[in-house]
Parts: sequence; C-alpha cells; structure tokens
Amino acid sequence: MSLSRDAKGALVLGGAPLCGVVREVGTPSYVYDLDGVTDSARALVAAFDGAPHLVAYAVKANSAGAIVAALASLGCGADVVSGAELQVALACGVPPDAVVYSGVAKTDDELDQALACGDRGIGAVQVESLEEVARVEARARAAGRRARVGVRINPSVDLAEATHAHIATGHDEAKFGVPRQDVARAVERVEASSHLELVGMTAHAGSQFVELAPYLDAVGVLFELVRDLRAGGRCRALSFVDSGGGFGVDYGDGRAVPSPADFVRAARREQQAFGLGDLALHVEPGRALVAAHGVLVARVIQVKVATEARWLMIDAGMNDLVRPALYQARHRVVPLDGAVPDDAIPWRVVGPVCESSDDFGEHLLPAKAPEAVAILDAGAYGYTMASRYNGRQAPAEVFVRGGRVVGKVARGSVDGWVRERAAAGRGLL
Ligand SMILES: Cc1ncc(COP(=O)(O)O)c(C=O)c1O
Repeated sequence: MSLSRDAKGALVLGGAPLCGVVREVGTPSYVYDLDGVTDSARALVAAFDGAPHLVAYAVKANSAGAIVAALASLGCGADVVSGAELQVALACGVPPDAVVYSGVAKTDDELDQALACGDRGIGAVQVESLEEVARVEARARAAGRRARVGVRINPSVDLAEATHAHIATGHDEAKFGVPRQDVARAVERVEASSHLELVGMTAHAGSQFVELAPYLDAVGVLFELVRDLRAGGRCRALSFVDSGGGFGVDYGDGRAVPSPADFVRAARREQQAFGLGDLALHVEPGRALVAAHGVLVARVIQVKVATEARWLMIDAGMNDLVRPALYQARHRVVPLDGAVPDDAIPWRVVGPVCESSDDFGEHLLPAKAPEAVAILDAGAYGYTMASRYNGRQAPAEVFVRGGRVVGKVARGSVDGWVRERAAAGRGLL
C-alpha cells in the first residue's frame, strides 16, 4: 500500500499529497503511484528465484501507458484480450514474444494482428475452444505463418465459495477455456497442424482469490493434464505452463490475503510435484500489481440527511468505478484532508448516477462532512471499466513517481460528449 498521511493528517500517495493533486487536476481523478506498481512487480519476480518465467501483466486491469511501460521496463510481458490492448502493449515496449492473448471470441482481424507482430507473431495465442483452434489455423495459413499457440483449459473446479460468481472463470458453466474432456483433442489438433506450434498449456480460474487452495486446485488440474499428456507422448515441444492471474488483494476487510509471491511459490511447488520443472512458468497477474497503488479521489457535492440515513454525495459514480455495483465489492472510503476521527459517524457514500446501485457503501467519516474523499485500492478494474453513462466523462488520471506528479491525462470533455451525442443519427431525420 503506497498510502500514508502527512503530519497534518492529509493523505499522501507515493509521496505526493493528494490535496495538491485535487487542486491541480480536479475531481473525479484516478491517481496512481508508479513506484508502488514497480515494487509489486519486483517482489513477484523475486518469487521465481531465477527460474524461467514470464510475468504477463493483464492489461485489462489498468491499461494506462505509464503503467504498462513501467512494467515492460522491468521485463514484464502482457496478457491481452483484444487487438486494442495488444496495440497498447506493443506501443508501451512489450516485445511481441512476451505477449499472450486470451479471450473466447477473438475476431479474425484481431488474430491477424497477433500473427503479424514481429518475426513470429506474439508469444502465444491462447485458444479457448476446439472451434478456435480451427480459426487460428486458418488465419495462420492465410498469413503464411506458424502461430504459436497455448491451449487454455477450463479446469472445471468448484469456485462457488472461492470468489464472486462474475469473476469465476474455471468452472463448468463458464464460457472460458477448453472443457477438460476436449483438451486432449485440442492438443492433438494443434500438434497435427503445420501452421500451429503448441508452446504452452494455460489456465486462469478466476480473479480475487483470497486463499491459495482454490487457485491451487485449478493449477493442479492443469499440471496433471500436462503431465498425463506428456506421458502419452503429447506436448513434446511445450515451453511453458501458465497458471493465469487471480492473486487476490486486501481490500481492507480485515482478512489476511496471501501475497502474490505466495501464490507464485505455491504454483512452483506444484509444478515440481507434477514433474514439470523443465518448463517456464507464466503468470498473468493484473489486480495484484496495480489495485493497491491507485485511488479515486472525489469531491463531496452535497450531503443529504434523512431519518433513515446520512448520504454523502460525491462526484465520482459507478460509471467511474463500477466494482461495487457489479461485484458488490467494497472499497474503503477515507477523508482526504485528515485521518478518520474517533467520533466518526456512518455515512452512506453514493455517486450522482441515476441508479440505486451507484453506492459505495457505508463508511465511518467525520460528522462534519469532508470536502473530498479517496476511494482506496482503485488501481485495478477502475478506469478500464469506466463508462459514459448519464453523460458522464472519463475521469482524469494522474501518475506519481518519486513523490512527484510525473504525468496527467485530462478528464473527458463534456462539450465533446454533447456534440457527439447530439449529432448521433441526426442526419436520419
Ligand atoms: C485470462 C486472464 N488472465 C489474467 C487475468 C487477470 O486476473 P487478475 O487481475 O485477477 O490477476 C484475467 C482476468 O480476468 C484473465 O481473464
């Protein structure tokens, strides 16, 4: 966590006082501590103890160029899920060899982009169905290239208790990954094609695992399948196994969460136990590298006090940070200009969007409403999931390094939105 308070109790992120940032760029704004992000990545890489690996940062968590480039400069690769994310990764200095591409329905155009990169296309197109094997083969043939392919399996584990249903991907009903019973066929088809090269076997069972056990269940299924396929003479040219992302973060609910390094060390132990120590281990963390190093700062627009509740109405809404509305996620909300006093009272913190789910939950805050608040641990799946619902604009973004603001992205323009929407389809009338 890159947050602290200065002598007067004002909130500081990565050494930069947030009140100053708010004065300079306004609200709502995401502020990110780049040093915190790179420190997290270094700690994760250290857990590999020099063993062959790739940390493929899941760009969907936070696609800001400063973050992707900072991670690329440490040797991280990228896990992308669209042609647009692929382009961001390449533009930020991720070498094509270090890109893996997941996603259940990549378009032909996106596959063509992935195959056209560099000398040999990206490091691995991770196929998620038997049907996709045929599509990737067709695109590779058309491009006159040999596509490097990873087969993403659906480990088919019970995740009901492990994480929120919307972010569980490795269970029987999920659309993700090749179903277990089809994995051998998918591998055979890839290996039989002169346009495909099987380089990896992968799994990503879900996000925000706060215990090792469900993650290891999924990893164990992957490793067991690979071990058995190899014993049967398959997967001879494999260079990696990929245990996905999913390392949970501490959103402040008092539960002890294993560190990302704990997840990696546990996966490495399983890898050895299944006799796969000769292969590189890939991981695809998103949240664990960035969540704790970003905050969403918002101004209090007004309060509303009624018999049933006291609402603190802020200028950030579910369009800026949708996790509470979408996943019932809880983020801590704290005052910007002073610590939470002992006599704090419960405020229901809500945004301006016309939806009852535009609600950040109840938080203990000073009885005299603060002027501005920070929503913590908002560095992952915040800005990237923002929308323009209700005519709202993309929040600003601010990047801090070495205690100083080193970059800013302006808030989306209201005028631009008004012009665009007012013009939409007008010519039809
Ligand atoms: C294939 C894949 N890899 C990695 C991730 C990153 O997950 P996390 O942010 O939980 O590490 C996701 C998240 O949805 C994913 O779908």
